[in-house]
Amino acid sequence: MKAVILVGGFGTRLRPLTLSKPKPLVEFANKPMILHQIEALKSVGVTEVILAISYQPQVMLTFLEEFEEKLGIKITCSRETEPLGTAGPLALAKSKLLEDAGKPFFVLNSDITCEYPLKEFLEFHKVRGGAASIMVTKVEEPSKYGVVLFDEATGRVKKFVEKPVNFVGNKINAGIYLLNTSVLDWISLQPMSLERQVFPSIADAGALYAMVSDGFWMDIGQPKDYLTGLHLYLDYLRRKCHRLLSTGPNIIGNVLIDETAKIGEGCVIGPDVSVGPGCVIESGVRLSCCTLMKGVRVKSSAHVSGSIVGWHSTIGQSAHLCRMAVLGEDVHVNDTLFLNGVVVLPHKEIKSHFVKPEIVM
Ligand code: GDD
Ligand code: MG
Repeated sequence: MKAVILVGGFGTRLRPLTLSKPKPLVEFANKPMILHQIEALKSVGVTEVILAISYQPQVMLTFLEEFEEKLGIKITCSRETEPLGTAGPLALAKSKLLEDAGKPFFVLNSDITCEYPLKEFLEFHKVRGGAASIMVTKVEEPSKYGVVLFDEATGRVKKFVEKPVNFVGNKINAGIYLLNTSVLDWISLQPMSLERQVFPSIADAGALYAMVSDGFWMDIGQPKDYLTGLHLYLDYLRRKCHRLLSTGPNIIGNVLIDETAKIGEGCVIGPDVSVGPGCVIESGVRLSCCTLMKGVRVKSSAHVSGSIVGWHSTIGQSAHLCRMAVLGEDVHVNDTLFLNGVVVLPHKEIKSHFVKPEIVM
């Protein structure tokens, strides 16, 4: 069985992290976002993952070659010369997808995290017998998503409304689909949207079904949601695989620390923290609700909360980072500084306080 992961888009909302690598390769809970997905797909029998890509394909491919072997799954690239939206890439990969005619294929948005109930989803798609099935999830603020209106008993979709201006419902498209190859007949090789063009048409034909997933779900394509997603994911790990989480007198709640990271005396870490490989956390540091990417150094008595620190950055002694500060790769924050909600582009040195959210170019 095959799967297409939609990895186009420039990842603008996750800058400055995406200035260093494509969004799907940005680590989430110490693993590139896209690897969480590839592993989930592999576990339900997917043998080939097609990356639909319109940006930095070489960086992606070099990285994924290593994992092709490690995971024992074929990873190929379908490269767009112009962005084809969310449907056009399927027309571009048509000949590959038709190799498995008669079998459905998965399509995933690359910037979501969830419990991946893919086995249940396959079963749902088979039993309902539609041309396409969408996984849906309930959210508080549906306006930034695609809202799906469907018959609760049968799952048949009546309407698909992308980014509704007025409230129509709170069950939204989770960005995971199963499509029969017949759906390719609805798509032509040009910029096209699954959400705005293809799904509304299949819904009108009565061949689109929605499966509700009650497990955790989050679009992690922007910093605030990324940290909410981390909270949900670590909570899920606590329930499913708690041995992966750190324990000890200095740990509060759910914390994931890479085994190569060094933690000094008297630190207090948690809740909802991920610390990447090779990080050095000196003594007396306080970390909460944050992600430290690979190779970050946090000097003694510094405090990081509600923030993301990019690869190989340094936080000075007694410095304080809070309220959605996002530091790009290789940023150096001098000692004792206070940074509130500041977004810093890669390779910068911060020498003064920032009391209000600001972008440092
Ligand atoms: N190959 C390719 N080419 N991929 C693309 C392109 C393109 O031109 N444009 C977007 N993508 C990819 C993105 O990388 C992402 O993985 C996915 O398509 C969805 O695009 P986003 O830009 O992240 O859309 P969104 O978050 O505003 O909305 C989508 O996701 C929501 C769930 O998170 C829609 O699918 C909504 O209906 C959905 O609720
Ligand atoms: Mg998105």
